Amino acid sequence: MSEGAGGSVAVAEARVLGDRTLTEMTQILLPGHTNALGDAFGGQIAAWVDICAAVAAQRFCRGPVVTASMDQLHFLRPVRRGMVVVLQARVNQAWRTSMEVGVRVDAEDPATGQRQHCCSAYLTFVKLDARGRPVQVPALDPGSAPLAVRRQREAELRRNSRLELRALLQAHQARIEAEAATESPG
Ligand SMILES: CC(C)(COP(=O)(O)OP(=O)(O)OC[C@H]1O[C@@H](n2cnc3c(N)ncnc32)[C@H](O)[C@@H]1OP(=O)(O)O)[C@@H](O)C(=O)NCCC(=O)NCCS
Repeated sequence: MSEGAGGSVAVAEARVLGDRTLTEMTQILLPGHTNALGDAFGGQIAAWVDICAAVAAQRFCRGPVVTASMDQLHFLRPVRRGMVVVLQARVNQAWRTSMEVGVRVDAEDPATGQRQHCCSAYLTFVKLDARGRPVQVPALDPGSAPLAVRRQREAELRRNSRLELRALLQAHQARIEAEAATESPG
């Protein structure tokens, strides 16, 4: 059970269908969202990606979540001022306390309705309990669609490489701290 933002109590399910996490968010790229060239400021797109993904993660686990990581963000083409930015997020896979959310960003020309893929990202969210500690999430049911099953398998590969990188960085940090402690004892 978890307390929702509105004070209501949600009952966590043991298994949740990936399709139930589908989240779509629409924005218009306004002048305040652009860089000096008049195209989308990358940090703004990253913020929208994070929000859209967080909603999908909360729909999945029905509780508070934090972003543990965001994989590389490749901007495939610029988004021009006035374009409609359409973000679509869904949970691809879940483990013990974490879940991977995939987000696709398209830019829609308001005059023609034509959409172009601008970037994609994968984020890992962790569900927290009331004391801020990681807590168990439901299992993901991908359903029977081949694409959802493929997303689930690919999420496993990405998780392995993320955790490998995390372990390397932690070991590196521990070495630096040990060296610093040796250099300035006391
Ligand atoms: C994310 C966080 C909760 C992890 O806490 P922790 O003490 O390292 O806990 P654990 O080692 O048990 O990891 C919890 C889960 O996160 C996963 N995780 C942690 N770091 C990760 C990373 N860099 N990439 C992918 N997964 C990660 C672990 O694999 C584990 O998942 P699992 O239980 O499904 O196997 C903690 O590092 C944190 O609070 N970070 C700051 C989050 C934040 O402020 N985000 C930005 C604003 S929302």
